[in-house]
Formats: sequence, C-alpha cells, structure tokens
Amino acid sequence: MGISIAELLTGDYRQNDNPSGNMRNVHFYVCPVCGNIITSVGHGTYSCCGITLPEAEWEEAKDEHIVNIETIDNEYYISVQHPMSKQHYISFVAYVTSSGVEIAKQYPEQEVQVRFRKKGHGYIYAYCNRHGLFRVRL
Ligand SMILES: [Fe+2]
Repeated sequence: MGISIAELLTGDYRQNDNPSGNMRNVHFYVCPVCGNIITSVGHGTYSCCGITLPEAEWEEAKDEHIVNIETIDNEYYISVQHPMSKQHYISFVAYVTSSGVEIAKQYPEQEVQVRFRKKGHGYIYAYCNRHGLFRVRL
C-alpha cells in the first residue's frame, strides 16, 4: 500500500512532492524523552521511546534564544547566551546548507560555543529543550 504501520495507526500519511528535496529545507524531529535528533530532507513519520515525534517548527531567534554569529577566518563562531541548567538548555546547534547538515550536540552546564567551517550560505539552528527550535539566516 505504500503506507507505514506508524502512518496507518496514527492516520497521519506523509507524502513528499519533491523526491529530491534540498538539504536547506531539512526538518528536525527531537525526542522529548531521550533527546534523540532525527533530520529528514522530506516529511516523514518517525518514532522514538514509543512516541511519534512531532516535527520541530522553527521560530526566528529572539530574546534568550538569540544566536550570535561571528566570522573568524574561514569559520563561523556561534554562541548563545542562554541558561544551560539540567532543566533548561540548548540541546544542539546545527549548520544547514544546500549540501549538508552539521550538528554540534550541546550539554547542560557548558557554554554554547561552536565553530563551523564555512561552507556557504544557509541557516544556523539552535534547539532549546524547553522552547524548541530557533533559526538565523546566514
Ligand atoms: Fe530556552
């Protein structure tokens, strides 16, 4: 039938119009239980820890989720002034271009300071475990 069991059970059928989707339009799915991160070029149905994961919808970075980007030589230096307690922290930072996704996992009680080698225009994403996904255009 071309429908997965998860789609059958949830009644949430996913179909992608463009089978060669651009990496720049990547979708993130984050497990709220274990923090697992799944990236997908198209829409899909993914589950982890017994939960069907909702797609993380991004917002423009603002307030405590402002993403600071400095260019140093051929690298982007990313920092986020955000609480990094065990209850509330930036879980990952991602650099997305049309050719790829690079994810830097972040951990509580450590500052968010990430360097990515410049590979062209795209987006920087920061994911907060409480407030979700924030994005800045490069
Ligand atoms: Fe937050």
